[in-house]
Amino acid sequence: MHLHLRDGEMLDSVAPLSAKYFSGAIIMPNLIPPVTDKDMLISYRDRIYNAIGDEVFEPYMTLFFKTDYDYDFLKSIRDDLTAIKLYPAGITTNSESGVEGFDIDELKPILDTMSELGIPLCIHGESNGFVMDREAEFIPIYEKLATAFPNLKIIMEHITTAKSVEALEKYENLYATITLHHLMITLDDVAGGMLKPHLFCKPIAKRPEDREALLRVALSAHPKVMFGSDSAPHPKHTKEAPGCAAGIFTAPIALPLLTELFEKHNSLDNLQNFVSTNAQKIYNITPTKKQVVLEKGDMDIPLLYGDVVPMMAGKKCSWNLITLRA
Ligand code: NCD
Ligand code: ZN
Repeated sequence: MHLHLRDGEMLDSVAPLSAKYFSGAIIMPNLIPPVTDKDMLISYRDRIYNAIGDEVFEPYMTLFFKTDYDYDFLKSIRDDLTAIKLYPAGITTNSESGVEGFDIDELKPILDTMSELGIPLCIHGESNGFVMDREAEFIPIYEKLATAFPNLKIIMEHITTAKSVEALEKYENLYATITLHHLMITLDDVAGGMLKPHLFCKPIAKRPEDREALLRVALSAHPKVMFGSDSAPHPKHTKEAPGCAAGIFTAPIALPLLTELFEKHNSLDNLQNFVSTNAQKIYNITPTKKQVVLEKGDMDIPLLYGDVVPMMAGKKCSWNLITLRA
């Protein structure tokens, strides 16, 4: 429920990898330039369909949040849209034209309109403070928005902290996505030993107790929590560089690794809800049914998919994706 497919050659290379193992995904709009009007959204969706070929896969499209979207525009695009994604300005990859300051009066017209049209708001919730505190510092903004717009579904994207889990449980209209990597790693894995550029992402991985809190709600498939991989491919040379791009690529390995994780914690019964059913209820979507068969048995994680290094490259997973039936 949070996927970066990019555009151009990268789109052609990564989209089939998601389309093979998933029946749909919420597609992030942080292209250059970002997806901000109907033509851009429809033509991007067409390029996605083109890239996935014959696979059954629904790209659930999003617009890049702007305060000047008006009622007529959003009504005209409502049927082609699943959500709107808000980035604070400059907080992550391609978010320069995001929101500055979070003035409720300024946000009111569009958020009232979104509430009325039932368009969920996905938020990359980080302040521009100290990197480890950014998500926690953003929580008062989530609380302010959740209170001021009680009929707006707000998705706290890729939560990484115990504090976000608390906020989620406190406000009825807050929901969250959780990535695979934030369930698996802490900051120690990124920077505690040799620096691991392929584990560098925004929000940065946090403390062990934060990971514990995320595991608690993910493994129990808390109904307000959904899997969102935030699979974010960057070419190898932009990761293995003095200025490393933020983003971890997990799309083709996410399901076997999640299965391994849920099995380790005796929670396999909750995997379906975490990966799929919760999201269908929260977003009110019904993707085409697709059966994915996972089998116990070693899978070698490739060193590269095209030009992109996946998480856990060269390692093994104890579950294998073997057959897919439509
Ligand atoms: C994402 C990207 O590369 O587009 N990067 C990341 O570290 N997660 C953007 C985002 O979701 O923040
Ligand atoms: Zn993302």
